[in-house]
Amino acid sequence: MHERFDVSDPSFIADPYPVLNELRESTPIFWNEASGQWVITRFADIHETLRDRRLGRSYSHRYSHAELGRPDPDPRWQRFHQHERWSLLCLEPPDHTRLRRLVSKVFTPKAVAAMRPEIEGYSRRLLEGCRERDTFDLIGDYAQPYSVAVICSMLGVPIADTKKLLDWSHAIVKMYELSISDEVRMAADTAAGEYIEYTRQLIEDKRRSPDGLLVSELVQVEDAGDVLTEEEIISTTMVLLEAGHEATVNTLGNGVRALLKHPAEWSRLVTGDVDTKTATEELLRWDAPLQLFERWVLEEGVEIAGQPVAVGEEVAMLFGSAERDPRRFDDPDRFDVGRGDSAHVAFGGGIHFCVGAPLARQEIDVSLQGLVDLFPKLALVAEPRYHPTFVIRGLEALHVSAS
Ligand code: HEM
Repeated sequence: MHERFDVSDPSFIADPYPVLNELRESTPIFWNEASGQWVITRFADIHETLRDRRLGRSYSHRYSHAELGRPDPDPRWQRFHQHERWSLLCLEPPDHTRLRRLVSKVFTPKAVAAMRPEIEGYSRRLLEGCRERDTFDLIGDYAQPYSVAVICSMLGVPIADTKKLLDWSHAIVKMYELSISDEVRMAADTAAGEYIEYTRQLIEDKRRSPDGLLVSELVQVEDAGDVLTEEEIISTTMVLLEAGHEATVNTLGNGVRALLKHPAEWSRLVTGDVDTKTATEELLRWDAPLQLFERWVLEEGVEIAGQPVAVGEEVAMLFGSAERDPRRFDDPDRFDVGRGDSAHVAFGGGIHFCVGAPLARQEIDVSLQGLVDLFPKLALVAEPRYHPTFVIRGLEALHVSAS
């Protein structure tokens, strides 16, 4: 059965849930020969693994590659590795704690709530533009420009650079898929190199003309002492720009697709029977925009679902499977906008819990409210297709009509 976990199979990409359901019901953990990882399938084990400090997103703060019997990073993708070297997602304490403290204050629920009018403004302007057409692409015409505008305005990055940023980011995130060609790796490395140079220039601009926004603030922290290095600012800016829109765009695409495939659920939003904030949680759970996250085992004695996992081994957590686990959610395959269960794993857990979760939730809520207000008769005009990637799950386009 486990060979059916084939990320290159188009039918798996189109709808991974039947296979994920079978895997999860047949075993809580299995060895995946293709990726050389232990794969965990059930909600409770994933929830616990995310919080287990004996595992980390990286091992380089504890062990050399040789010590764990891992190959050195491929020098051909040096710029890719440089771009994420100081990313929050590649750090563990104490560096992680120091950098996360600096960025997290911008993304607290209070700070994010204060931005709501500005975020609503971006959303309304774009949706009104869409209203002028009979049909539009909810991804390309709305979700992408919207979420990039929001994160750029928080960081102080010029919105005019959106196209470049999107192209780089799309190329770079492909590096996180399970099986990729050297061509894709090369494209990711080239994009990372250009992106690093762009960010270096941006930092220089902020040094000359501070604007009080996040990148500028990080530069000032650096200038005030040795708390932050330029390399750290570069990685931090890039991880925020990347993480700050891909998953939000895909949650909106996957989620609105789900709503339009379940017209009775869409009606519950239009009539006000269920509010958009409640529905946001079900959009995050039902068709996960991020399907898999990994951890390295750093200490002896780790056992997952009864399976000992040795130091230096890697585990992969199947989020999409966890979100459909009947041990945790009643009737989990049912899309129910009124479910109102916010304790899913969409934003992870433990020290790497998504720093942008309050912002992402607000962006989705604002978008749903705008769609309900302006397009109560929203409908699909074509069957949407998913990108041929598994880890990052999202639609190529979502063509809809307003009436
Ligand atoms: C619906 C949208 C989003 C989803 C589903 C999502 C999901 C996640 C998940 C699962 C993690 C943890 C990864 C792990 O534990 O290995 C994470 C981390 C992160 N997210 Fe998000 N995210 C979203 C939106 C955002 C936004 C809008 C931002 C913008 C600030 C953001 C910034 C980050 C950062 C910087 C991290 C790393 C945190 C750390 O390592 O301490 N995310 N996200």
